Amino acid sequence: MPTELFAVISTVLLLSACENDKIPEELPVVKDNVSFALDIQPILSAQCARCHNPADVAPDLRKGFAYESLLEDGKGVIPGNAEESELTEMLEWAKTSDNPMPPTTPLSPLNIALIKKWIDEGAQDN
Ligand code: HEC
Repeated sequence: MPTELFAVISTVLLLSACENDKIPEELPVVKDNVSFALDIQPILSAQCARCHNPADVAPDLRKGFAYESLLEDGKGVIPGNAEESELTEMLEWAKTSDNPMPPTTPLSPLNIALIKKWIDEGAQDN
């Protein structure tokens, strides 16, 4: 294959790979009454706790500890206001955050929408 063609194909593949990491402007609409225990903690346990635990980095996002660490330490959750919460910015990392979380791949749009809804509904321990 000619080098130029190879370069073009590689660029296209690279660009489409980046495209997949983008968070869509419109997140999915999620149900009301999001539950921290049933909806949010499982996301944190699966996607965050392997790094966020006492042996590694704060906040501790393991089951039984995540709620308090997220709210107590003022880690960017403003109950009732997902838009202004720093956590939102971190999760929508493909846009602008300089501290994207998780660092390697963004959460699914559905999971981001659930966490934002939970914050907007008052970030309750429910
Ligand atoms: C691969 C490891 C890893 C994963 C997975 C991960 N984080 Fe992090 N997180 C870090 C590291 C390292 C820092 C510290 C970054 C720094 O201070 O620059 C951090 C910092 C943070 C902070 C800010 C703490 C502070 O003191 O400002 C929050 C909040 C956070 N992560 C939330 C999350 C959430 C929520 C998830 C899951 C959706 C997640 N992280 C997944 C490694 C990870």
